[in-house]
Amino acid sequence: MKRLPIGILGSGKGSNCRAILERIRSGDLAADARIVVSDVLDAPILDMAREFGVTNAYLPPGRFRTRLEPGSEQQLVQMLRDVDVELVVLAGFMRVLHEPMLKAFPRRIINIHPSLLPKFPGLEAWKQALVAGETVTGCTVHYVDEQIDHGQILGQKETKILPNDTAESLHERIQVLEHELYAAVIAEFCKRYSEARQQVGGSPNKVL
Ligand code: GRF
Repeated sequence: MKRLPIGILGSGKGSNCRAILERIRSGDLAADARIVVSDVLDAPILDMAREFGVTNAYLPPGRFRTRLEPGSEQQLVQMLRDVDVELVVLAGFMRVLHEPMLKAFPRRIINIHPSLLPKFPGLEAWKQALVAGETVTGCTVHYVDEQIDHGQILGQKETKILPNDTAESLHERIQVLEHELYAAVIAEFCKRYSEARQQVGGSPNKVL
């Protein structure tokens, strides 16, 4: 089975990235991490890539705060294409992607979000769920489109919100679920990609 070439993008601590790289190393995930890219020069996710021997790169984001400057986004496309990435995995990447990336990787960019989407898109979604008095929350993996935390849902995992939960305890529990869910969805993508690849004799248009 051909291993799926993936690229991971993140801006922060990279616990999801670690979970993915550990599963690849142990042979549980038939993916090949080709590159880890961050828009933050000293992000721990880049140290993590080094620890696992994965190529890593800092992408200067340009002058905007919540998105990449168009030239930077084009540079990102090139970085990922140069190493033949087939699936782009957002793992705490804090910038909204726009046309250059969405056009270059249609149905090939996925994100993980700490709520049961469509509920609570945006920042600190676990806190939003707590403040709203929800009794259940969780995490979602979805395709990325032009809207924030939006796009076809590929998988979800739930957890109860306990009466004595704090924002920290809830977030911690959701992150454990995230690590399981993200690996499971990527594993499914790998399997379908490999099957579709055999059928079409090359890179398939639609995997999931
Ligand atoms: C996760 O909670 C994820 O849902 C959100 O960003 C966070 C990244 O965490 N999109 P980490 O850097 O993977 O630990």
